[in-house]
Amino acid sequence: MPRARKSAAPSAASLTDSPAWAALAAHRDALAGTTMREMFAADPDRHARFSLRLGEVLLDYSKNRITEETVRLLLDLAAETGVEAKRDAMFTGQAINTTEGRAVLHVALRNRSNRAILVDGADVMPEVNRVLDQMRDFCAAVRDGTWTGATGKPVTDVVNIGIGGSDLGPVMVAEALKPYWHDRIRPHFVSNVDGTHMAETLRGLNPETTLFLVASKTFTTQETLTNAHTARRWLTAALGEGAVAQHFAALSTNAAAVEAFGIDTANMFAFWDWVGGRYSLWSAIGLPVAITIGFDRFVDLLDGAHAMDEHFRTAPLGENMPVILALLGVWYTNFHGAAAHALLPYDQYLHRFAAHFQQVDMESNGKRVTLDGASVTYDTGPVIFGEPGTNGQHSFYQLIHQGTRLIPCDFIAPAVSHNPMGDHHPILLSNFFAQTEALMKGKTEDEARAELEASGKSADEIAALLPHKVFPGDRPTNSILVKRIDPRVLGKLVALYEHKVFVQGAVWGVNSFDQWGVELGKQLAKAILPELAGDGPVSGHDASTNGLINAYKEMRDS
Ligand code: F6P
Repeated sequence: MPRARKSAAPSAASLTDSPAWAALAAHRDALAGTTMREMFAADPDRHARFSLRLGEVLLDYSKNRITEETVRLLLDLAAETGVEAKRDAMFTGQAINTTEGRAVLHVALRNRSNRAILVDGADVMPEVNRVLDQMRDFCAAVRDGTWTGATGKPVTDVVNIGIGGSDLGPVMVAEALKPYWHDRIRPHFVSNVDGTHMAETLRGLNPETTLFLVASKTFTTQETLTNAHTARRWLTAALGEGAVAQHFAALSTNAAAVEAFGIDTANMFAFWDWVGGRYSLWSAIGLPVAITIGFDRFVDLLDGAHAMDEHFRTAPLGENMPVILALLGVWYTNFHGAAAHALLPYDQYLHRFAAHFQQVDMESNGKRVTLDGASVTYDTGPVIFGEPGTNGQHSFYQLIHQGTRLIPCDFIAPAVSHNPMGDHHPILLSNFFAQTEALMKGKTEDEARAELEASGKSADEIAALLPHKVFPGDRPTNSILVKRIDPRVLGKLVALYEHKVFVQGAVWGVNSFDQWGVELGKQLAKAILPELAGDGPVSGHDASTNGLINAYKEMRDS
């Protein structure tokens, strides 16, 4: 059940007071006695009724605790919260990121129709296309070897230095599209300020053939600049100061800081303040991907995302994949008390998919006040987690099947593997299909007892084991089946989840595009850093923080 919270500021009409909210709460109670198993038994067309298809992407959302009435009521909630108008405001370049006074236009970066998108009266598309052209030329030169290092050798290793949105999206996409990598060029991603990350990445790399991409929207992020300076020292120690121009490029909105770092702005790939960090992989931040898979395939990725954008922008809400996924999430978060959501790709290449959407979702909708500053009286973004199947099955699925918490899951799988070895893929997919069936159906006491009897157990043994063998079932899942994980399909999938997060933020009335929650820790770390250098004990913090800092100093110095 949603937790009631005390409001710190008077709210505009509260979401929980809306007619759609009340209708959904009543509907949940009315549906409480009906299981999904019963719903499937009563309706042989349930799969067709609750599926959507966009080209090579099929979404089956029939294994949810829903009827057509549920969907209708959820769509009422979307209507009452103005989802369509908010979506249109995003696509038309309005400053919907109100706390930073910015438009939110990652959709412009993949606007393959090239229709004008205006920010403050100016079309952003010419600039978007100019940077894409610059990226295309640079990719071609690096890939065909005409771009060389300072000693005339072609690039073999591209090291992206960035963190958060300047890392997670590009890593996820580069890993997902590994079958398309250039034979000679390996991408690497250094994000953590822990020196181990840089040290382990540079080990074995040759400065003569290494290209560093410093990826930072602001070009002020401590972790990224620290790593970039270390990389610069590593390079210049081997090749001298004059080598920097051939071995460093910057992906940023901040030309002055790029220049101050010592990177030639001719090697800078720009983007703009209307690109949110966690939505930036489509911008110059995607350069490591474009170099690795080739610019044309990067454009295929943009094309796929654009196809999903057009679907999101134009399809009626009841047939709109991101809207349906979002509303199902609202259904479980706000009407069934679900606190988490699992993303479970049955494709090894998607092994960073959940990590990327952890940032996209949790940094976007991990908010406790609405756009007008009032405290919410309902839960917002869930905890996102996940691992590729089948590894997750042998780890945390136990809790999903038989634990006390409700964890809705999205299962994602390609029909065709890039590596069709023996019967690996049918085995993988049999698990993909079986898991959602098991979560939906569960295993009743009668079924469990019959199995135990058939296995020859005594009555006492059966009585002892039976409670442990029952699966309650009725655990909701979405299944997303795609043809194969290629750039176009991946573009669609990523845009699908980006827009899902957008719609949820629109329903909850929060700003999905700021991230003030990361600031406090940064501020305190800045104050603590000089204290770590000092000799004496510190005393200016709470007892725990003082104690930990002083214990650190003692361990370090003893
Ligand atoms: O974690 C906060 C954040 O601002 C993210 O939103 C962003 O993706 C990341 O830091 C990196 O920022 P930048 O690209 O400016 O270095």
